[in-house]
Amino acid sequence: RSSFRSQGDVLVLPFLDGKLFSHPEINSIQKKMGNLLAKLLAKEEFKGEVGDARQFSTQGKIVFDYVLVMGLGKAKDLSVENLRKAAAKSAQAGERLKAKKIVSLLPLAVEKKIGADQVGQALSEGTALGLYRFEKYKSKKSQEATPRELSFIAADAKTAKALQAGLKRGAIIAGGVNYARDLINTPARDKPPEFLGREAQKTRGVRTRVFRHRQLQKMGMGALYGVGMGSSEPPVFIEMHYKPKGRVKKRVAIVGKGIVFDSGGLSLKPPKSMETMKDDMSGAATVLGVMKLLPQLKPSVEVYGYVASAENMPDGGAQRPGDVVTAYNGKTIEVLNTDAEGRLALADALSYLTKHRKVDYIIDIATLTGAALVALGDLYTAAMGTDVELIEKLKKSGEICGEKIWELPLAEEYAEEIKSQVADIQNIGGPYAGTINGALFLKHFVDEKAKWAHLDIAGPSWANKPLAYAPKGGTGIMVRTLLHFFSEL
Ligand code: BES
Ligand code: MN
Ligand code: ZN
Repeated sequence: RSSFRSQGDVLVLPFLDGKLFSHPEINSIQKKMGNLLAKLLAKEEFKGEVGDARQFSTQGKIVFDYVLVMGLGKAKDLSVENLRKAAAKSAQAGERLKAKKIVSLLPLAVEKKIGADQVGQALSEGTALGLYRFEKYKSKKSQEATPRELSFIAADAKTAKALQAGLKRGAIIAGGVNYARDLINTPARDKPPEFLGREAQKTRGVRTRVFRHRQLQKMGMGALYGVGMGSSEPPVFIEMHYKPKGRVKKRVAIVGKGIVFDSGGLSLKPPKSMETMKDDMSGAATVLGVMKLLPQLKPSVEVYGYVASAENMPDGGAQRPGDVVTAYNGKTIEVLNTDAEGRLALADALSYLTKHRKVDYIIDIATLTGAALVALGDLYTAAMGTDVELIEKLKKSGEICGEKIWELPLAEEYAEEIKSQVADIQNIGGPYAGTINGALFLKHFVDEKAKWAHLDIAGPSWANKPLAYAPKGGTGIMVRTLLHFFSEL
């Protein structure tokens, strides 16, 4: 909206380069409040780093109860990521103040530096992602506190229109991310592989096929099938297909690891390591989130989405260390550690799409190795692959989306670590370079010439503490990055 005559509970004012942003409307609000804001901010030595905020009661001097001064940092560092953070902090502050209606003037300070459309997208992403809560299992929901209405004010009608388009797109995208978060946060007992199959089949605007249980065995998906043997919940393999109406610029396959719970199997994990293992289907959640968004965002890219899902449990029927399974492409795998199950599930998915579909790029997304956390911590995705350009594109998209990606070498020197005595390969390497070993294993299931990237999201799939625009729990990482990547192809 470009009119300033709005009312509400909270008014958000931008604070940039160490001062309140100067704009006739903001200056007039200042004056109405007796020029108190600047004085109080100076007294408090308010620096206004990104997301830092101060709230002031207006004492009825303007038509809002509170003014929230929101730090945007330095103008030279302005970025969509910083806007997302500021938007999230504004919305969260509004929630704390029990505001029903928030009016934000943040766009005024940034729309010249970052296009109004991009500003709109970042603001609604930050807002909707920052307000996300998983409360399905709470007997008392805090939902009532969520602000009902948020308005953003642009300088004029033309920028308002661009802003609005961006706001709308951002809200759609955040919906997909929050959907992925819901799937991840859902306890494993309520999301067997079959549940993911049903979610896929519910997805509008894409063609979906779900392969189940015995059918998987008959098809020759011995690796995925083996992972599921110890669970009473049978595994599923999902194929989804989005085809744009017009010209197809590129074809891409995305493949998600969908282990709905990873106990380690007979190579059982210690209790602490199991606490968050309902998140071991985060890659699948990313694929489902992206596929849900494609028909709404309509990029001119044809996308195949795959999910290989099983529950990794120990019981009398479970696969044993030392067992040999045959993957869909005919390669035999010695399963030395049943806890290295993600690569087994992905082996069949990658082989399947390699055999049946012709695509320009293959990207798999998986919570594959604890070693990725050791190497990069919980904020960076580890990337490895066969195509420099693809990795560069993904890194760039990740940067813009605030989802950092760091490349590790797909080091052929270590390839012999996963050679097996009894089968073609084995599912674990030595004690070092665990993340690279995982990628080297997967490489056996894509073509020599394929442009393939493996994204190990074991770290950032789960927030161990609240982030700027994600509460503790499943993050839905890589949904936004993949969509951005598609939009640039
Ligand atoms: N799902 C885990 C990886 C993981 C660990 C994700 C911690 C998130 C947080 C994976 O299936 C696994 O157990 N990997 C093993 C591989 C090992 C046995 C070669 C690991 O990382 O220990
Ligand atoms: Mn495991
Ligand atoms: Zn796992």
